Amino acid sequence: MRRIVLSALLLAAPLWAQAGGGAVPLDKANIDLDNRQSLWHGAKLFVNYCMGCHSAQYMRYNRVGKDLGLSEDDLKQYLVFGEKKVGDTMTIAMRPEDAARWFGTPAPDLSLVARSRGPDWLYTYLRTFYLDPKRPFGVNNLVFKDVAMPHVLWELQGWQKPVYRTVKRADGHEEKIIERLELAVPGKLSPAEYDKAVRDLVAFLTYVGEPAQFERKRLGPWVLAYLALLIVVFYVLKKEYWRDVH
Ligand code: HEC
Repeated sequence: MRRIVLSALLLAAPLWAQAGGGAVPLDKANIDLDNRQSLWHGAKLFVNYCMGCHSAQYMRYNRVGKDLGLSEDDLKQYLVFGEKKVGDTMTIAMRPEDAARWFGTPAPDLSLVARSRGPDWLYTYLRTFYLDPKRPFGVNNLVFKDVAMPHVLWELQGWQKPVYRTVKRADGHEEKIIERLELAVPGKLSPAEYDKAVRDLVAFLTYVGEPAQFERKRLGPWVLAYLALLIVVFYVLKKEYWRDVH
């Protein structure tokens, strides 16, 4: 019995290690993929603030337009810039080699990032950049330590600084850990407005990660209606067959 308990503990140990070690709890993104307004706002933020460095190479502008119910004029006015056409994919001009030279690491394509990281991680990531003079761009991030990405939304959020707390480690050493972030220089948006903007952006990235869900949702009721119709037809057929048997 004791051995069983011990092995159960050993198996669970890595989980504890992950849970401890200063892991930052993620804030809930609470995105709403049925809210087209939110996705539309997120799409605008994405092309304006992210596509300088990141692509969404599997997504086409006109697909976004169709799914979000936008006209071609809306697309041309707000999303499709420069040489791009509405039928193009959301790729960018920057070459990965250049990004690697400028930032030390390439800025990855974001098509699937909502699936690999999850919406809550993205929501927390984009809200937890903080001033850190030791980093090349002067910022660090709570969930992505020593990230190579600058705080590109600073204009909207402003700049946050860390508030530290001293904790005693098990070996008696004292350690300073970040307790929370505090707004040092306000941005154009209030904290609540900024949270909403990031929620919209994360909603858009989540949609980009699985655009087929719109199709599925649109088809869903029709599939159910078709099945219901089949039930009626089969019921009538069954009655018809059994009439002769009785
Ligand atoms: C100036 C260039 C630049 C811009 C603009 C930019 N990023 Fe980044 N981003 C990077 C770089 C470089 C990395 C790689 C960071 C690393 O690996 O340390 C990165 C990493 C990321 C990651 C982590 C990917 C992963 O899973 O490892 C996410 C998510 C992300 N960016 C989202 C965004 C969003 C959303 C925007 C727009 C609001 C944006 N970025 C704008 C340069 C940029």
